[in-house]
Amino acid sequence: MRVLVSLIWLTLLTNVQSVPAWYKTQRDAILSTERRQSIGSKLTLTADEEAVNKMIMAAKQGEIKSAIYDDSNYIPAVHFFQGRKRMEQSKVFKIIQQMPKGAALHLHYGSITSNDWLVKNVTYRPNCYMCVKQEVITMTGFYLTPPVDKDCKWLEISAERAKSRDVAVFDQWLYNNLTLTVDNPEVVYPNINVVWQQFEQYFQTVRGLLRHAPVLKDALYETLKEFYQDGVQYLEIRIGLIEPKELNGTTRDFTWTVETFRDVVKEFKKDHQDFSGAKLIIGGRKMEPASVILQDVKTVMELVKQFPDVVVGYDLVQQEDITHTLLYYSSDLLYPEAHKSNLPYFFHAGETDWLDIHDNNLIDAILLNTTRIGHGFAIPKHPEVMRLVKERNIPIEVNPISNQVLKLVSDMRNHPAAILISQDFPVCISSDDPAPWEALPLSHDFYMAFMALAASYDDLRFLKQIALNSINFSRMTSQEKASALQLWQTQWNLFIKRVLDSHNTNIVG
Ligand SMILES: *[C@@H]1O[C@H](CO)[C@@H](O)[C@H](O)[C@H]1NC(C)=O
Ligand SMILES: *[C@@H]1O[C@H](CO)[C@@H](O)[C@H](O)[C@H]1NC(C)=O
Ligand SMILES: *[C@@H]1O[C@H](CO)[C@@H](O)[C@H](O)[C@H]1NC(C)=O
Ligand SMILES: *[C@@H]1O[C@H](CO)[C@@H](O)[C@H](O)[C@H]1NC(C)=O
Ligand SMILES: *[C@@H]1O[C@H](CO)[C@@H](O)[C@H](O)[C@H]1NC(C)=O
Ligand SMILES: [Zn+2]
Repeated sequence: MRVLVSLIWLTLLTNVQSVPAWYKTQRDAILSTERRQSIGSKLTLTADEEAVNKMIMAAKQGEIKSAIYDDSNYIPAVHFFQGRKRMEQSKVFKIIQQMPKGAALHLHYGSITSNDWLVKNVTYRPNCYMCVKQEVITMTGFYLTPPVDKDCKWLEISAERAKSRDVAVFDQWLYNNLTLTVDNPEVVYPNINVVWQQFEQYFQTVRGLLRHAPVLKDALYETLKEFYQDGVQYLEIRIGLIEPKELNGTTRDFTWTVETFRDVVKEFKKDHQDFSGAKLIIGGRKMEPASVILQDVKTVMELVKQFPDVVVGYDLVQQEDITHTLLYYSSDLLYPEAHKSNLPYFFHAGETDWLDIHDNNLIDAILLNTTRIGHGFAIPKHPEVMRLVKERNIPIEVNPISNQVLKLVSDMRNHPAAILISQDFPVCISSDDPAPWEALPLSHDFYMAFMALAASYDDLRFLKQIALNSINFSRMTSQEKASALQLWQTQWNLFIKRVLDSHNTNIVG
């Protein structure tokens, strides 16, 4: 069988080589015109980078070739839950993991702190309660005396753990209650509404942990650490106007949250000199009445004035298919415009498979001068949006694994961002909500982008450009960007050297 396959392969190649010269010339011209257009194609590599490029491309071609006759072997063609372990064995992945990735620009507080840390750290604290309903944890929280609830039973986690026969088993239960990962996602999550319900339940479940004021501080530091360890040097995090609680019931206002965030970032930067920082985008909810959104807009305009170095703008979140459109809120979102003022927007738009009403959010996002577009999954279906996005250089934050887990695409090779990448649209790669699906901060998403969204010939230059894009598309000031780029370049040079050294060691060894 293998011999036969190789023979067919060889015949295909031979036939290509036997075409007339004029045909080959024209064919090569088309191919090279295409290859000159994709993301990264304008970069020139140094000799050391070329050597690393050879290695990563050999690995990439190897993975593609081994799946040509059975694409279930191809990791991006299968669900992340089923391919993750194999991905982590991939040589391409191992190189990507070490790579300095620049900025993560599309993230949500509440779904970016690993479940591992939530279980092993937060639930070990005293006064931490869970509300259990038919064996499922539906809520959590810190209380001196837990509330009385007729829907579920509040139990102190440390007491339950102490009573359990096996601490490891108990912690595994907690973990299983949090994760969305299952072996058979196609059965458990048959459609987008089911998976979104479970996804929203995740936020609901961890909310009581992450909104406890002392935890919020530690969770932010831990998040920065996890991202930093995955090669991320800067973050922009969407967060609601949350008001965390102290154990004695005291409520902290959102200003406290921003100040705490600012202090944690400062502290983390002090501890990690090659880290560039983090900022906040305030996220409103697309289920809210218009009056709430108008109030949000006014509040965030003030916050941007009060904390110009921390709060950069406003966005609207939640499942796009079934919530209010941007058009529905347009007069509220035009409030700054109407008052000769300004509020930068970072709208989620086109995060849908429909070509209907909700994907028109893309058009409203552009009319509202969005600074970047979150997802933009539906963009290639809208030629005029394509043109405007390119003309105005509006960056698109692509989150491959999120789109797969949340059921917009199953085989990642069909992800529409491939079209944007092939034409050098301003694209950056982020991870949206890595915690509920146990992805690393960026590495898994970068792998998917490299192996399935980029063409098979897209090489190290693609990865390098995606990292550069992320820094360029961030809301850092131009001074901050310059310094971030310098830090990134140093890390990049180290990365190239490290990959080369380990390769040489392997050859000698
Ligand atoms: C949780 O993390 C905090 C902050 O890193 C640390 O001070 C504390 O000791 C940890 N607690 C547990 C139980 O691991
Ligand atoms: C969720 O946690 C509860 C309480 O600890 C446990 O009884 C249950 O088995 C867990 N569920 C899963 C799916 O592990
Ligand atoms: C509640 O706890 C916080 C944090 O420890 C403290 O700052 C505040 O003074 C306390 N409030 C009351 C009413 O005890
Ligand atoms: C968008 O930007 C253009 C050009 O800067 C400006 O004329 C227009 O008023 C802005 N619109 C909104 C809604 O901010
Ligand atoms: C940064 O992005 C802007 C807007 O997309 C683009 O015009 C510019 O060329 C980029 N600069 C670099 C250094 O990539
Ligand atoms: Zn998002």
